[in-house]
Amino acid sequence: MGYKNIRVEKRGKVGLVTLDRPKALNALNSELIAELGTALDSFDEDERIGCVVITGSEKAFAAGADIKEMHPHDFSSAYQTDLITPFDRVSRNRKPIIAAVAGYALGGGCELAMLCDFIIAADTAKFGQPEITLGVIPGAGGTQRLTRFVGKSKAMEMVLTGRMMDAEEAERSGLVSRIVPADDLLEETLKAAEKIAEFSLPVVMMAKESVDRAYETTLSEGVRFERRVFQAMFALEDQKEGMTAFSEKRTPQFRNK
Ligand code: CAA
Repeated sequence: MGYKNIRVEKRGKVGLVTLDRPKALNALNSELIAELGTALDSFDEDERIGCVVITGSEKAFAAGADIKEMHPHDFSSAYQTDLITPFDRVSRNRKPIIAAVAGYALGGGCELAMLCDFIIAADTAKFGQPEITLGVIPGAGGTQRLTRFVGKSKAMEMVLTGRMMDAEEAERSGLVSRIVPADDLLEETLKAAEKIAEFSLPVVMMAKESVDRAYETTLSEGVRFERRVFQAMFALEDQKEGMTAFSEKRTPQFRNK
């Protein structure tokens, strides 16, 4: 497929999506989000891909949903076209997605990063939910996910004032897993993605599903889910291979079975 707003590549077992609307700081218009959904579908279906990375440019991961595209909506059209809901496709991905964020991740850009499974930030990254300055609130999950990541006080301040958070504050607050120098962002993120893609794909997918449960259910139900998934893994050839390889002091050869 010919993409207009993103670049899509395979780097070994890693699917790489680069947001590519430089003139608009990667503002997320509906065409870009649809293209992202198509790229994610193709990586989810491709059995050679084990992990996906979404990144932007040096200046911006994404400066938000496209304000110029949203501006003309009224309630009726926003409701009937289900404005912003296509962003949710990212959270339905079955394979892990890492966001590699440099520069601005604002509004829908911050929300897109939070829809990924974890965020690696360049030291130049800036996160924020500035929607209040536009006369709206975050619409792609920002009020909910940011609060779960950084806690009520910080999320409330950011959503009510539009204040941005730099990479250090984002790491301190648990929004990002780690910070790397901007020049190393893609290489470091691809390294993490390649590591994930070397493991057993069904086990990786179930690990992701289990961690996600922590956000959607009670502790006891989450632990029950984890326990059943853990026990079910003993039906996989990859469990036998992983534990045999440990005993034989060799690298396991996982076959995704
Ligand atoms: N939508 C549409 N266009 C955008 C955009 C956005 N979110 N962000 C930047 N652009 C465009 C600018 O309009 C500008 O285009 P022109 O050259 O045609 O004027 C171009 O990108 C470059 O931007 P700036 O000249 O503003 O660059 P800067 O370096 O001076 O400032 C910035 C950078 C601080 C990120 C500033 O662009 C900015 O504040 N952007 C808007 C951020 C924002 O409010 N995001 C939230 C959007 S609403 C949302 O996301 C809702 C939701 O929850 C889903």
